[in-house]
Amino acid sequence: MKRFISINKKINFFRKKEIFIDGDKSLSIRFVLLSSISDGKCSAINLLKSEDVLSAIKCVKKLGIKTKFKKNKCEITGKGLSGLKYKKNLILNAGNSGTTARLLCSLLVDSNFKIKIIGDQSLEKRDMKRIIEPLKKFGVNFKSNYGKLPLSLWRTKSLKPISYTEDLGSAQCKSAIMIAALKTRGETKLKCLPSRNHTELMFKNIFKIPIKIKKKKKFEHITIKGQKRLKAFNYNIPGDISSASFFIVLTLLSKNKTLKIKNTNLNNSRTGIIKILKMMGAKIKFSKLSTYKGEKIGDIIIQSANKLKAVNLSYKLNSSAIDEFLLIFLVACRCRGISTFNNLSELNKKESKRLDWGIKILTLMGVKVKKIKNNGIKIWGNEKLSLNKKIVIKDYLKDHRILMMSIVAGLTLGGRWKIYDPESYKTSFPSFIKTLKNLGAIIK
Ligand code: S3P
Repeated sequence: MKRFISINKKINFFRKKEIFIDGDKSLSIRFVLLSSISDGKCSAINLLKSEDVLSAIKCVKKLGIKTKFKKNKCEITGKGLSGLKYKKNLILNAGNSGTTARLLCSLLVDSNFKIKIIGDQSLEKRDMKRIIEPLKKFGVNFKSNYGKLPLSLWRTKSLKPISYTEDLGSAQCKSAIMIAALKTRGETKLKCLPSRNHTELMFKNIFKIPIKIKKKKKFEHITIKGQKRLKAFNYNIPGDISSASFFIVLTLLSKNKTLKIKNTNLNNSRTGIIKILKMMGAKIKFSKLSTYKGEKIGDIIIQSANKLKAVNLSYKLNSSAIDEFLLIFLVACRCRGISTFNNLSELNKKESKRLDWGIKILTLMGVKVKKIKNNGIKIWGNEKLSLNKKIVIKDYLKDHRILMMSIVAGLTLGGRWKIYDPESYKTSFPSFIKTLKNLGAIIK
């Protein structure tokens, strides 16, 4: 097996003008978990077949759920809201997937048996207190490793609805509370900071669950009535904007190129990167816009940019770009002026400490970067930045987004990159390398 990837050459020209991106990871994991508690056979076209989604599938299989792949279609037969098969000594492995681990806990709140959830080295470092605390209020017992995995959960009393304030702006936390609420009789009231709203859209548009959402100043107020059965459903999963972002930045930072990325999820709670890049002067357009089960979908057209300018970013766009900051930092390196980003503490709670890694990679590239108060950073950009150095990236907890960002950096800014753990991209974007090579990238 290869131990590292080498990038020694910028991408010259694009052999294609249009590409498709793998299916949306957030929607794919939600499809797997929610179909398992629905009433019957559900199917998804273009489900993402990445390691994170496969971890979610393995977990529901262990809970007695039948799953089947037929070409581009995945079928999952749900057994109803209380139909999961719990048994003694069950261990579920969420792999690298925070979304799977956190949302899975909410599926299991009605288990009388103790169920253990484990994960890989990266997932074991991630905070689970954010879901343990609210799920305990529903009436669930937890034993954990100081608020981290491995954890066990079990129920000894009947579940009751809760009122809760979620102030991290975490969609995983919000979704875990919403799913647990389904298993209670009564109304759960959730006050939360804005974050991606896929669970709300699925509850409303697919399951017709009684859910009220009111936006007030800083917070959103969500009310959900539990005990509604979920009907079986079919879903057509659009491309993932987070994966598309690697190609958006590849095009933006290359010379004289245009690229169309087809059929991508353009949900407003996910398109922070587009808004930020436009503020920097990028030319990005949407076409063929439509709405599918509440999600906005369309094509993205992006052009290379000669002149980009620095931004002083308000924290308000952080949540809708949360998985894209490594790429945004990369673009800031090529902007005229000093860019500032604020309140990014959540970045250090991802698959790796991404804020610290962003600083480390930029420093290795020779770019001036400084950590500032309130978990922010300043990046000194240079419109003419071109690299010539040797850069080695390793021991990064196999964070898929670090690997993919480093590859895009090498293909656009130059330098001689050696990146270890070359398979990491399979966590979220299995066709990443193939799509790059088809475009004309030289990757060894
Ligand atoms: C996700 C939410 C985000 C994001 C993650 C996927 C989801 O995390 O970083 O990759 O599918 O709900 P938060 O829970 O911090 O919002």
